[in-house]
Amino acid sequence: MVDSLDFNKKTFLIITGASRGIGRTIAIEYGKKLQATSTLLLLASSEDKLLETKNLIQNPVLTVHVKAIDLTAPDKTTLENIFNDVLNGEKYENAVIIHNVGTIGDLTKTSIQLTNMADWQKYYSLNFFTPIIFNSLFVERFLQLESKIFIINITSLCGRQPFPSLSQYGSAKAARDLFFKVLAKEYSHINVLNYSPGPVDTDMANSILVKSTDQQIKEVYKQLFTDQTILTPEMTVHKLLTILENGKFESGAIIDYYD
Ligand SMILES: NC(=O)c1ccc[n+]([C@@H]2O[C@H](COP(=O)([O-])OP(=O)(O)OC[C@H]3O[C@@H](n4cnc5c(N)ncnc54)[C@H](OP(=O)(O)O)[C@@H]3O)[C@@H](O)[C@H]2O)c1
Repeated sequence: MVDSLDFNKKTFLIITGASRGIGRTIAIEYGKKLQATSTLLLLASSEDKLLETKNLIQNPVLTVHVKAIDLTAPDKTTLENIFNDVLNGEKYENAVIIHNVGTIGDLTKTSIQLTNMADWQKYYSLNFFTPIIFNSLFVERFLQLESKIFIINITSLCGRQPFPSLSQYGSAKAARDLFFKVLAKEYSHINVLNYSPGPVDTDMANSILVKSTDQQIKEVYKQLFTDQTILTPEMTVHKLLTILENGKFESGAIIDYYD
C-alpha cells in the first residue's frame, strides 16, 4: 500500500505539461496546498503560458520555478539540470513528480497508415522515452536526499482500450503504464500511481473533436460536449488530490476518475 501524501510536509513537486489543461490546474490546486518551504517546478515548452500558470497560483509564499523546455528529445544532462538547478542542496521530506505531458499523435491515420519511422520516434520520445528517463534521474537524485518519493503518471483509458485513430496515443500510454507498474514492483518503498483522468475539456479533447478522421470517436466526443458530461480540469484534479491524500492503494495501480 502507498503512503498518503501529506502536503504539510516540505515538498519538491515537478509537473510536466503545466502550461495549460490538466497540468495547469494541477499546479493551481496543489499550489494552494503546499507550504511555504516547498518548491514547485513547472515544465512545458511555452514560457509565456508557464508564467501565466505561475501567476494563477494563489500562494505568494510558495517558491515556484518555471522552465520552458521542449521535452521531445532533451539529453540526460539537460534533464538532470532541470531539478539540480533549483535544488540548492536543500532536502525535502516529499519528492513528487507528475508526468502529465502528453500529445495526442496523428489523428488522421489508421494504425497501418502510420509508416513514417521519424514520426513514431518523435512521438515516443516525448510521450515515453523522456518521461521514463526524466523519472529515473529524479528517483536517483531524491533517493540520495532520502525523500519519500511519489510518482504520478497521467494515463488514459486509451492505453487500456483500443480506440480507432488513437494507436500512437494508446500504445504509448500502455507502454508508460507498464513501465511504472514494473518500477512499483521493483521498488516497494516508492509510491507509484497511474491516474486516468477521464475525458476532460482541454485543447487535447478539442483536437480529437476537430481533427480525428474516425467518425465514431468524433461522435463520442461531440456527445460529451453536447451533454456537458465532459469533465472540467478542476473535477479530475480534485479527485487526484483526494486519491493521493488518502493513499491506501497498491503502488503501481491504475485508478480512473470513474473508479
Ligand atoms: N484531456 C483529456 O480528455 C485527457 C484524457 C485522458 C488523459 N489525458 C492526459 O492528461 C495529460 C494532460 O492532457 P491535457 O488534456 O491537459 O493536454 P493539453 O491541454 O494538450 O496540454 C498538454 C501539455 O503538454 C505540454 N507539451 C506538449 N508538447 C510538449 C513538448 N514538446 N515539450 C514540453 N511540453 C509539451 C503542453 O505545453 P506547451 O504547449 O507549452 O509545450 C501542455 O502544457 C496528458 O498526458 C493526456 O494524455 C487527457
